[in-house]
Amino acid sequence: MEKTFIMIKSDGVKRGLIGEIIGRIERKGYKITKAKLFQPGRELIEEHYMEHREKPFFRELVNFILEGPVMALEVEGESAIEVMRLMIGHRDFKIAAPGTIRGDFANSLTENIIHGSDSVVSAERELNLWFN
Ligand code: CDP
Ligand code: MG
Repeated sequence: MEKTFIMIKSDGVKRGLIGEIIGRIERKGYKITKAKLFQPGRELIEEHYMEHREKPFFRELVNFILEGPVMALEVEGESAIEVMRLMIGHRDFKIAAPGTIRGDFANSLTENIIHGSDSVVSAERELNLWFN
């Protein structure tokens, strides 16, 4: 059993997609083991996206996440990291396959509904950051 970190971004919450997303995760047979709906601070978001701090889109990304509450989730199941990334779909909404969360709901490169950890190391780091 593996644990991963999922964040429903501010656009996903605003668009009323919490139920849809949690439903997809549960119907796939994965467990929500922690959940927190709240307004994060700038420091937390900047720390979360640390790997992108030098990228040209960093400011826009952080400001967008800060626009409203997000839902932080701990999700558990077999190969949870890889399976959640597959269900989330490609970062670019134009490439994300139909049937994936981004493929079905995203229409912007920055505002793409949801985040999922991309490796065991990131999952551990992100779960610690968001749920300690
Ligand atoms: O979220 P994911 O791991 O799939 O993609 P990433 O490459 O780690 O980028 C993190 C987030 O930055 C994306 O999910 C987008 O919200 C945002 N981003 C952006 O605004 N513009 C880009 N050119 C690339 C990413
Ligand atoms: Mg990433």
